[in-house]
Amino acid sequence: MQPHSCIIGTGHAVPQRILTNAELESMVDTTDAWIVERSGIRQRYIAEPGSCLSDLAAEAAQVALAAANTAADEIELIIVGTVTGDMKFPAMACLLQEKLEANNAAAFDISAACSGFLYGLHLANSLIQTEGYKKVLVVAAEMLSSMVNWQDRNTSVLFGDGAGAAVVAPATDQRGLLSTYIKSDGRHNQLLFNPGGSRYPLTHELLDDNFACINMQGREVFRHAVVSMTDALHEALQRAQLAPDDLDLLIPHQANIRIIEGIAKRFKIDPAKVYINVDRYGNTSAASIPIAINEAITTGVIKPGHVVGLVTFGAGLTWSAAILRF
Ligand code: ACO
Repeated sequence: MQPHSCIIGTGHAVPQRILTNAELESMVDTTDAWIVERSGIRQRYIAEPGSCLSDLAAEAAQVALAAANTAADEIELIIVGTVTGDMKFPAMACLLQEKLEANNAAAFDISAACSGFLYGLHLANSLIQTEGYKKVLVVAAEMLSSMVNWQDRNTSVLFGDGAGAAVVAPATDQRGLLSTYIKSDGRHNQLLFNPGGSRYPLTHELLDDNFACINMQGREVFRHAVVSMTDALHEALQRAQLAPDDLDLLIPHQANIRIIEGIAKRFKIDPAKVYINVDRYGNTSAASIPIAINEAITTGVIKPGHVVGLVTFGAGLTWSAAILRF
């Protein structure tokens, strides 16, 4: 299969501060043992108060641009997947555009929670085919620490901050995106949400109740995650005319080790072929997949010619998958 577009450079960035499970034990009623057993998370990176997401996104984007040997003014389109932008508007993509001085680009955000990067990749791939773009920057970045209720043990132990980026260009050989798939089911929007929009305008009461933080029904989200990620990976493999055995590496969304293991088991994928870094980063939402891709490339886990599966799910509910040859 001849791909239409490919990733020519990746980057990622995380804040300096590491928050360990041991520190969380002193903040909320939890234990390191519970967090590791139920989620696989041992630590996460948390932004310092006063920092903003566009700085982190710019750092990741600059690494990706350098890896792609691309100047910022060559970028024609910037797509950012995030739910924790610097402000409600303007779009994070426009703030990032300013920081990168990517003055020849159009820039917009997509809101697909943890699926933001793969939704962005799907869009970049389509627009390269239909609009003839030559260089598209896809960034996914989150500072979920800014909307976590640190007194809520159901959510505060799970999330971390980070950013990942990829430069996408037309494919010139057999390397590139072999398939993409996006899907959502809005009927489950109440399983995972953050208020503060027109339905729940911010009031003192809302803030006092901590309702303006992440609201999540963890067990239900877990159940849907396994079903939707199975659907996404199955569909993306079918579209690429490949079987699970053809994958050299699977990079699943890093939300919970038990969800990752559940997906690998369903597809009978050798655990050695499944990329895991949730123990070090926690759930960085949309940033999770591009952080893992960049880490896997720079550490030599992804080698030229490898066929890699990417699969994710998030609030919405949204889910997505892609198959790439590197
Ligand atoms: N420490 C100690 N105990 C805890 C903690 C904690 N941090 N959190 C919950 N518990 C307790 C609960 O109160 C409950 O106690 P009870 O039995 O006395 O009522 C018990 O542990 C079991 O709780 P469950 O919620 O059933 O635990 P579960 O095994 O489902 O694990 C978890 C919870 C980790 C949240 C899991 O459900 C999960 O990972 N769900 C998916 C969440 C997710 O991925 N969300 C992100 C989606 S991506 C996006 O869009 C941002």
